[in-house]
Amino acid sequence: MRAWAWVAVLGVGVGCGGPTPARDFGEALFKDPKLSDSQYNAFSCATCHATSAAEAEAKLYTGLSLEGAASRPNWWGGYEVRLIDAVNFCYTAFMRGTTPLEDEDPKSRALYEYLVSLSPQSTAPAQPFTLVRDITEVPRGDKTRGEEVYRAACQDCHGTRSTGDGRLTPLAPVLPEVARDYAQLFPNATPGLVFIEKVRHGRFFGVGGNMPPYSLEALSDADLGALLSYLGL
Ligand code: HEC
Ligand code: HEC
Repeated sequence: MRAWAWVAVLGVGVGCGGPTPARDFGEALFKDPKLSDSQYNAFSCATCHATSAAEAEAKLYTGLSLEGAASRPNWWGGYEVRLIDAVNFCYTAFMRGTTPLEDEDPKSRALYEYLVSLSPQSTAPAQPFTLVRDITEVPRGDKTRGEEVYRAACQDCHGTRSTGDGRLTPLAPVLPEVARDYAQLFPNATPGLVFIEKVRHGRFFGVGGNMPPYSLEALSDADLGALLSYLGL
């Protein structure tokens, strides 16, 4: 049994496995930044979440893979117990959506059908999600690995290192140049530590903006250390 059906399921396609118009509409919405009503949003669900093991392997996404997500008993490390609330957190915090998606909205239903189609088993385990609350230094690592991490984790949004070419939104600053002012802006911390704080917290804990946080599951301290070496921080 699915612990939480998002909506009273329409019956179409659910459990039969095949594509349905609602599921296909849901997939299109999943990949479309215009799902959000904010003109400043450039992110789609697909910017931050893989939907298959192969995709999850190829990149370092800030969000977990959503394969099986509709069958998990809870989300966000247990903070959310309704799937629509887990999605709405992303929708309002990262995609700048002004009003949360509602159960009965046809878009919500379609998105739900799509997530169900990614969840062929009726139950799936909850996924760990460990936010790093207290920021500490990490040992620096290998620059070559750091370059790979940059490409797999940061480049889609921030663009090419030092130029920002191809970035998803002009709101994402050029890395690592943005850190040049950190010594002056934050005299009580090293620039490296300020940078770590941004990556680990995103907009959490009172930090502004729409940058998503990187949990320990999404980015290990070893990979973060390698990334910092590559960026010269
Ligand atoms: C800017 C990045 C970003 C965007 C855009 C985004 N998410 Fe997320 N999402 C996250 C992060 C980070 C988490 C917390 C880690 C995790 O649980 O995946 C999360 C968590 C979730 C979870 C809970 C997963 C779990 O098992 O804990 C679901 C479900 C989810 N997102 C669905 C969506 C959907 C659907 C959309 C589009 C409407 C979306 N997200 C857009 C970053 C994003
Ligand atoms: C989903 C898109 C997205 C991804 C992925 C992403 N960022 Fe960001 N990041 C942003 C946006 C947008 C901002 C600017 C606004 C804000 O702070 O939210 C930002 C801001 C930042 C800042 C703060 C700059 C300042 O204002 O001082 C740092 C540092 C940063 N990102 C580093 C990273 C690193 C390192 C990675 C990869 C591990 C990464 N980001 C991945 C979207 C993203």
